[in-house]
Amino acid sequence: MRQFHKIALALGLTAAALGGMASTAKAEGVKIGFVVKQPEEPWFQDEWKFADTAGAEKGFEVVKIGAADGEQLMAAIDNLAAQGAQGFVVCTPDVNLGPAIVARAEAAGLKLMTVDDRLVDASGAEIEAVPHMGISARKIGEDVGAALAAEIAARGWNPAEVGALRISYEQLPTAADRVGGAEDALKAAGFPEANILDAPQARTDTEAALNAATIVLNQHPDLKHWVAYGLNDEAVLGAVRAAESLGIGADNMIGVGIGGAASAINEFEKPDPTGFFGTIVISPKRHGYETALNMYEWIANGTEPEKLTLTSGSLAKRDDYKQVLVDLGIQ
Ligand code: GLA
Repeated sequence: MRQFHKIALALGLTAAALGGMASTAKAEGVKIGFVVKQPEEPWFQDEWKFADTAGAEKGFEVVKIGAADGEQLMAAIDNLAAQGAQGFVVCTPDVNLGPAIVARAEAAGLKLMTVDDRLVDASGAEIEAVPHMGISARKIGEDVGAALAAEIAARGWNPAEVGALRISYEQLPTAADRVGGAEDALKAAGFPEANILDAPQARTDTEAALNAATIVLNQHPDLKHWVAYGLNDEAVLGAVRAAESLGIGADNMIGVGIGGAASAINEFEKPDPTGFFGTIVISPKRHGYETALNMYEWIANGTEPEKLTLTSGSLAKRDDYKQVLVDLGIQ
């Protein structure tokens, strides 16, 4: 009996030691891609930063690539395969590329996970087989709408004199969900539906939102006050800048974005308040660090990521954003 125990112990130790060696050897060879649609946007830079943190901690390499359209994305996949990567995380420039991305990744022998924007198939249905991490878009949108309604009430504005700039990008499901959630919460708080004014943006950046908002603002000189919401901080910043250029400042504009990265922080740090009233801070740490780690674990240990992870957000304003970022472990 004693003898048996000794042998078992020895074998166990050997197995553990070998296991340890094997996983170190694997980690050394692991290379993942982290491909994003808008590398100039602070949110995506933060995702990259946190993906790099995961790589440094576990000893794998993160190849960061910006792909603004389908052609660049397909080239990125081929490039990753050519340089020996085993998988990649992607926020696609167009969710409709879903089937093409899945096919290209498969052909290249690369594991695939998506972040932020979920792939859809030819019928517009989400491709559930590809692991995905996104935000709880509708709930976060509702938080935006509730924050807007609360501030309208706090300022004692008559809702009949308030216009809501709905900066929309309907071709992206997470954008439609966020904007829809905000709108539902506004309406639930008694905001008049007729005062919700759609401002579709051609791209998801500040300039496109500014152009969209300018048209709507010019069409409604009758409205005294404004609120603005959209897909992200950039959308709301565009609306805020458009209003400023027409003389509508912080006193008559309440913008609440989604994100909480540098675009929002810069705004909060300006000496005087602007119409950018708040943002729902979401976590680039979870989206960058965790997805990179998930991909690594999948490659190194065969552990498949959860099929769907939705992350939450927290409202931050000029006076409390620093604490919110600390609480979320972002700064
Ligand atoms: C989309 C938006 C980004 C960011 C992420 C968060 O990709 O375009 O700005 O909000 O979602 O998941």
